[in-house]
Amino acid sequence: MSEPHALVTGAAGFIGSHLVERLLAAGTRVTGVDAFTGYYDPAVKRGNAAAALADPRYRLLELDLGRDDLAELPAVDVVFHLAAQPGVRASWGSEFASYTHHNVLATQRLLERYRDGHLRRFVYASSSSVYGDAERYPTTEDMLPRPFSPYGVTKLAGEHLVLLYGRNFGVPAVALRYFTVYGPRQRPDMAFHRFCRALLRGEPLTVYGDGSQSRDFTFVADAVEATFRAWERGGGPAVYNVGGGSQVEVRQAIAVLERALGVRANLRHEPLPPGDPLRTRADSTRLRAVLGVVPETGIESGLAAEAAWARTLYGEGSG
Ligand code: NAD
Ligand code: UGA
Repeated sequence: MSEPHALVTGAAGFIGSHLVERLLAAGTRVTGVDAFTGYYDPAVKRGNAAAALADPRYRLLELDLGRDDLAELPAVDVVFHLAAQPGVRASWGSEFASYTHHNVLATQRLLERYRDGHLRRFVYASSSSVYGDAERYPTTEDMLPRPFSPYGVTKLAGEHLVLLYGRNFGVPAVALRYFTVYGPRQRPDMAFHRFCRALLRGEPLTVYGDGSQSRDFTFVADAVEATFRAWERGGGPAVYNVGGGSQVEVRQAIAVLERALGVRANLRHEPLPPGDPLRTRADSTRLRAVLGVVPETGIESGLAAEAAWARTLYGEGSG
């Protein structure tokens, strides 16, 4: 039997590039798709993709799923759809057009391409941002989504599209609601990357509010493992929270990073931006029971890995 073939969209991004490497290591043939959008430096994305490109079973196509002809996309066994315009706080005003393009239109066009494709699974990278300020914590998948940012609305729209194509056309669709993912290659706009960069450069850290807001931070290898397992075990149409199973305040995470980098933080407080929920916390019962994934990386070891990676980018700091 020939090896399975996976399509990964957003393949040069933070999570997508780790997923590609995980799939190749498992003996899967992979076609990656990325538009190298300018949300952050495309050279960083080329760096993310570089290691996997050495593998002859990997091919990377540069195209925009919201605009380009998708007929050239190969027939595959599974689609992992991670391409998106991310970022909660940047989704206001005229920027919203780019969120609808990359998160809604691109998803609908990809689903049209594969709706008769006899896929074994279509896995969609959804987001804890669909919950907004949630009804209850820990939040279960069955609670009513109530986004708090325009970004969250577009991720929820994408999720509905994936699940409704699943119900209408029999595409075995799975949506994974990732909770704030961190680790090596984290996007430069995200909190821990920004904190590491500032600490290593001796610059002030911007903390929104008093830093008591909390997240169910999830280490990237755990998120990737859940994504990989969703292919085999996800069923569908189905939704899973992908959360680390812990809750950490932003100010606690800064203290962990100070220790990891051996640098004292100089904090500069700014008001909490619109769209930023005060708290996220995943109920991971379904993730554990059905996908068999136990997010096992604690914040200390996860941040130690991110700090070590940040040193390779920004030098040693004063620690
Ligand atoms: P990322 O920006 O690093 O990766 C996304 C990639 O998609 C980028 O390389 C971008 O160039 C590409 N892309 C965007 N629009 C495209 C299009 N129209 N066609 C082809 N490629 C396109 O982001 P990430 O943090 O790795 O996030 C990956 C996915 O996970 C996204 O769907 C995001 O919404 C979701 N998610 C991320 C987090 C997190 O904490 N990082 C949490 C929840 C959900
Ligand atoms: C992250 C991703 O960026 C989104 O793409 C994703 O959809 C979302 O997780 C999710 O889980 O759904 P966010 O939780 O805002 O969004 O992630 P970070 O940028 O790491 O921010 C974490 C916290 O740090 C937030 O409460 C924010 O207020 C705070 N923060 C961020 C600061 O205090 N200072 C900063 O400079 C940046």
